[in-house]
Amino acid sequence: MTHLFLYGPPGTGKSTIGKLLARRLKLPFIDLDRVIESKAGMSISQIMETQGETAFRDLETAALKSLAPTPHPQGEGQGVRESVIALGGGALLREENRAFVESTGKVILLAAKIDTLMERLGKDSNQRPLLAGDLVSKLSALLETRREHYNSFPLKIHVDGKTAEQNAHQAQVALGRHHLSAMGEYDVLVGQISNLSRRPASIIVTDENVAQFHLEKIRQTIGEDVGAVIIPPGEEHKNLETVSHLWKAFLENGLDRKSTVIALGGGVIGDLTGFAASTYMRGMDWIAVPTTLLAMADASLGGKTGFDLPEGKNLIGSFHPPRLVLADPQLLSTLPEREFRSGMAEVVKHGVIADPELFALCRRGMEWVKANLEEVIKRAMAVKVGIIEDDPYEKGIRAALNLGHTVGHAVELVSGFKLRHGEAVAIGMAVEAGYAAQVGLAAHGLVEAVEESLTACGLPIRIPEEMSKDEIIRAMRVDKKKNAKSIRFALPVEIGRVELADVRMDDLESVIASGAFSATKQSPTQ
Ligand SMILES: NC(=O)c1ccc[n+]([C@@H]2O[C@H](COP(=O)([O-])OP(=O)(O)OC[C@H]3O[C@@H](n4cnc5c(N)ncnc54)[C@H](O)[C@@H]3O)[C@@H](O)[C@H]2O)c1
Repeated sequence: MTHLFLYGPPGTGKSTIGKLLARRLKLPFIDLDRVIESKAGMSISQIMETQGETAFRDLETAALKSLAPTPHPQGEGQGVRESVIALGGGALLREENRAFVESTGKVILLAAKIDTLMERLGKDSNQRPLLAGDLVSKLSALLETRREHYNSFPLKIHVDGKTAEQNAHQAQVALGRHHLSAMGEYDVLVGQISNLSRRPASIIVTDENVAQFHLEKIRQTIGEDVGAVIIPPGEEHKNLETVSHLWKAFLENGLDRKSTVIALGGGVIGDLTGFAASTYMRGMDWIAVPTTLLAMADASLGGKTGFDLPEGKNLIGSFHPPRLVLADPQLLSTLPEREFRSGMAEVVKHGVIADPELFALCRRGMEWVKANLEEVIKRAMAVKVGIIEDDPYEKGIRAALNLGHTVGHAVELVSGFKLRHGEAVAIGMAVEAGYAAQVGLAAHGLVEAVEESLTACGLPIRIPEEMSKDEIIRAMRVDKKKNAKSIRFALPVEIGRVELADVRMDDLESVIASGAFSATKQSPTQ
């Protein structure tokens, strides 16, 4: 983990957004211009006036290099702790400065239309030596000269028409960085496995499929001597016997409450490892390294851990968030196609719940998604992070994440688990969207849009003909999310918004038939 640099033309809000971003990520904030001024003992204007631009740029290079980060994530040792750093608008014109920031962190470019910049700079352009005087012509000339330079930074956000808070959020999504604090404090990061180096780890838990592709890579990063417990793959092993096997392996490897376990795998590995960690010696730390799309977009986030009983899925569990979630999109290169598509159901779901842009991206189909996987993962994770931070213990809006799951779980069960979880959720989403339209909740065109997007991702949208409707209804009745008289559904209203609705048990047949029936509407916060 390294510095996050905010860069871009004057007036884009690098300092304001930088401060907010630092607060959201619980990192220190540094304004490079203030570092220069404090080292020089005078203001930037005075430096320019008395010493000229070249001398200023020399001071800028020296100030920048004084911020070399410490190699230790906790900030121990020489160097500056990982920080959010706002740069001056021309700070990376020098190749050596650019090389320095690109080797010590990530640069995010803030882009804006000239009108936005004019509006913001109007008041204090005289404080900016390069823009003093005729602002319009000076700014136009500066943007023209630096156009190619600014365009050459791949990670960009457009700040026009948004508040500083919204732009800080945009920056987080683009960076794939979050700090969660509603249930335990932890970082969520989209990045390479190398981010695990120097993280304390006592043991790795993984499954046979993942181990053959990725275990050695992780070991090379965190230490060849770190032990591993490798369990057979599949939901059928998400049981007490495996949990017990993990506890014993932890004991045999001398783990104690200060140890940290790495869960390297899909949702099954995450749920099992998190639960075993939450109960071993009354709780120890774990790190989630999800290796399926479903686990990245969904299962690794939110701190829910657990295992299945013969009577049903996820019946035993605990809330025990990991210390870090690290999602490396490259790990998905070995994921079987069907698993990948299954994960896309949760991604589409997140688009429907809260991110119309993500939904539109999914609609472009699998080829596009695969070519732009990092962006898709970052957006999908951001939706879930937003929801679990608002409602960590599922008292209200977190139930929105159940979109497609009430019908989906039942369909999955009745298929005898021949349908993958995501395939069942896709069917569930289409059925529930159809029902939302029947009861007049869904906006015009929503059903078609949801079905189109799921189909574009190679997912099914209809309950297989051979499946018994009665059995599906029975399965919905015994779902653990039931109460005596009704089942709470998360129903899509428009792309980007869902509402919770209690559906009477007697009306479940109509849901499956997508027929009209009554539903008591409730706001998600009730
Ligand atoms: N805790 C939560 O909040 C939460 C949320 C959603 C789902 N879940 C749980 O997640 C589980 C489903 O997760 P899943 O779909 O990731 O299943 P999974 O963990 O069984 O993984 C699916 C398959 O892909 C293989 N695999 C995983 N990563 C691979 C890779 N990179 N390359 C090759 N093969 C790979 C696995 O060995 C397995 O065979 C369910 O048990 C579900 O209950 C939990």
